[in-house]
Amino acid sequence: MLSYATHQPITINLLFRRQAMSLNDRERWDQKYSDRMVPDLVMADEWLMDHAAKSNRGRAIDLACGLGHNAIWLAQQGWQVDAVDISPVGLSIAKKFAMIQSTDVNFICADLEGLFLVYHQQMETSYDLVSVFRFLDREHLPEIIPRLLKPGGLLIYETFSRKQLDRDDSHIKDARFTLSPGELPRLYSSLSVVAHEEVDLSDRCVDRLLARRES
Ligand SMILES: C[S@@+](CC[C@H](N)C(=O)[O-])C[C@H]1O[C@@H](n2cnc3c(N)ncnc32)[C@H](O)[C@@H]1O
Repeated sequence: MLSYATHQPITINLLFRRQAMSLNDRERWDQKYSDRMVPDLVMADEWLMDHAAKSNRGRAIDLACGLGHNAIWLAQQGWQVDAVDISPVGLSIAKKFAMIQSTDVNFICADLEGLFLVYHQQMETSYDLVSVFRFLDREHLPEIIPRLLKPGGLLIYETFSRKQLDRDDSHIKDARFTLSPGELPRLYSSLSVVAHEEVDLSDRCVDRLLARRES
């Protein structure tokens, strides 16, 4: 059996590697957002608007919220909203955007792929709605999201499908950032699927999931 002393350097090593990766994610997104302006209009995603509009208002959290368009729309519809992203630069734009819209969103700077729920344990079973748009993490989110939801709570998720790679106008070239057919409901198999569709839109090819935590 391995002793604690043998384990410790490996654990610390993994932690450093994870922190280094997060730093890369953060720097990459900070860089992308550095020349972005505060948007003029709140243009929420259709998949979110369609399904959130039919749900009873409560607490919502938007994960990897970017500039906050979906979080701000949810707050304007009467949801109490938390929104998480790793990029401080993106979040500072999102906060200005929310302020201009006179909308209250609780923006949180955190790494979703790291120790998110260890630091934010009070968020467990807190949400009636979790939304994720244009962000794919296969390792951590499928474990985190069901824990964030209250029983009866909904997950509204949309991100790029494999077909996105075939588009001439696609900025995504790496298949790892896209979903294979049927993958999204498989990743969230602990939730009950309410609706799932793989759609080719005029500007993107996406998979969409609406799923519920039963108990
Ligand atoms: C393609 S953008 C999508 C933003 C927004 N959901 C939207 O649909 O416009 C991906 C977002 O994920 C955030 N992100 C990347 N890695 C992350 C991580 N490990 N933890 C939290 N957010 C992360 C980026 O900062 C970026 O805002």
